[in-house]
Amino acid sequence: MADLGGKAPSVRRVESIRYGLGWNRPGWRRAAVAFSRCLLLAAAVCAAQASGGPGHAAIASAHPLATQAGFEILDQGGNAFDAAVAVSAVLAVVEPQSSGIGGGGFWLLRRAADGKTVMLDGRETAPLAARPDMYLDARGEPRPRASLDGALSAGIPGLPAALVRLSKDYGRLPLAQSLTPAIRHAENGFAVGRRYARAAKDREAALRQSPAASAIFLDRGTAPQAGFRLVQKDLAETLRRIARQEHAGFYGGMTARLLVQGVRDGGGIWQAGDLAGYRVVERAPVRGRYRGIRITSAAPPSSGGTVLLEALNILSAYDLDGMDALTRKHLVIEAERRAYRDRDLYLGDPGFVRMPLSRLLSPDYAEGLRVAIRPDRALPSSALSAPQASSSQGDNTTHFSLIDGEGNLVAATLSINNSFGSGFVPPGTGVLLNDEMDDFATAPGKPNAYGLVGGGANAIAPGKRMLSSMSPTFLETQDRTAVLGTPGGSRIISMVLLAVLDFAQGHGAESWVSAGRFHHQYLPDVVEYEPGGLSEEDIRGLESRGHTLKPTGYRYGDMHAVQWDRVRNRLSAASDPRGEGAAAVK
Ligand code: DON
Repeated sequence: MADLGGKAPSVRRVESIRYGLGWNRPGWRRAAVAFSRCLLLAAAVCAAQASGGPGHAAIASAHPLATQAGFEILDQGGNAFDAAVAVSAVLAVVEPQSSGIGGGGFWLLRRAADGKTVMLDGRETAPLAARPDMYLDARGEPRPRASLDGALSAGIPGLPAALVRLSKDYGRLPLAQSLTPAIRHAENGFAVGRRYARAAKDREAALRQSPAASAIFLDRGTAPQAGFRLVQKDLAETLRRIARQEHAGFYGGMTARLLVQGVRDGGGIWQAGDLAGYRVVERAPVRGRYRGIRITSAAPPSSGGTVLLEALNILSAYDLDGMDALTRKHLVIEAERRAYRDRDLYLGDPGFVRMPLSRLLSPDYAEGLRVAIRPDRALPSSALSAPQASSSQGDNTTHFSLIDGEGNLVAATLSINNSFGSGFVPPGTGVLLNDEMDDFATAPGKPNAYGLVGGGANAIAPGKRMLSSMSPTFLETQDRTAVLGTPGGSRIISMVLLAVLDFAQGHGAESWVSAGRFHHQYLPDVVEYEPGGLSEEDIRGLESRGHTLKPTGYRYGDMHAVQWDRVRNRLSAASDPRGEGAAAVK
């Protein structure tokens, strides 16, 4: 088992082959050894099947300390859901540029004992005083950065409520125990990595505007270098209040008072009722099939599962494996174009909008979209009608995947939206607030930070959840179970789509997290690709079919995945080589 505690994570991918066969011994002895191992293998498989689980656990997360915390809680007798509380809370402390208790997320759960499969929706909500035009000036134009920086850009956090629910309804250990590793790292500090340093440089200006944020996350007003020791005493105190008082430790009492006061002093519009009224919602995930693979993914208010399945439905009639690589990529792009268009047109918070989900997910609808796809030619997005855009995005937001010995599964994607969220910390709380309000269509027809253009379905309304792309996902065949997801804004869905196609080809977790990436999201009408994501030949070929190509100039995403090969009872775990995460099997 690798040491996960060091400053520089050396472990990215760990695979465990628990019950392999050895063929290196001569004669009968070799046969006897092989036979006894066969028995062991059979016994292990039987035991695993009897308990329904693999008998050991796998965790892949964006930070070694978070992966380590997950195993720490499993070692103390916790199940996957207790471990998920620990991993989520540690990520909130050690990756403050990506997620936090001032943010939200989606936890996709499968409880092995009864097969219950659910999505915990801990997405932020718009404050009750929010209005559709709150980020527009008197002429109806967007006020620059108003939905991205500072207290006014923050939605009401859902992450603390979700951790409480996860622990109480699904876990086995007390919440306080599962929060212990996070409190320890906040109190004692830890050395930040290169990603933190880069993100802090990018967001230096916003962080400087909030004295509490600047004092915590900057080094005397300047973005620190990797290796800087980040200590978060106020956050440790807030986490302790949650550990003691659970939901009320964040949404009531002293924490709520400090949050509301701080936000209002900072130009925001929160009221006590916003926090008091926040509720986690349990939702039925989106489900579908692609070539014998059962897919379970995020339901609205995430667009993730719907766009993923719509694209897979379109692709399902093609023999992707039998065709040349260029046509395959062209068809993936054309499927994305159509599925992302429907995201923009139809999707939003199910508590506020009616969505034609069964139509969007029906094979007939996919068939209708497919007939207009030419294998030799791109169809411009303008020919599909509706909402123009540009896009830029980093890898803030985070993901982890885990499976425990009983076969409980958790895929969780957590966010504060842009790097360091709003950059705003209400004094005395240590809570860095999200800027998730920018995920609404803040100015209809205008692109958000990810170039996404939305309409009425995703307009701002009091108490409403902003549409997301986060796509925690399970994949299952007769033989294999996979748990995966990634950050990456609008590109999350296309990354997960490419991973599903790679899984369908029989590849393992290491391949999904490292494969080259390309992306189309309807608008802007360009195919983005990371360095190495498309070959020169692909680029020329796609251009000659009418696509406009745009290199991102950097590799994107931070996918974390685990796989259970149920036939051989083998677990594997992989963390994206682009990131600083750690994956392990124990
Ligand atoms: O919910 C969403 O879709 C976004 N707030 C996720 C942001 C994200 O992944 C940022 N990483 N680039």
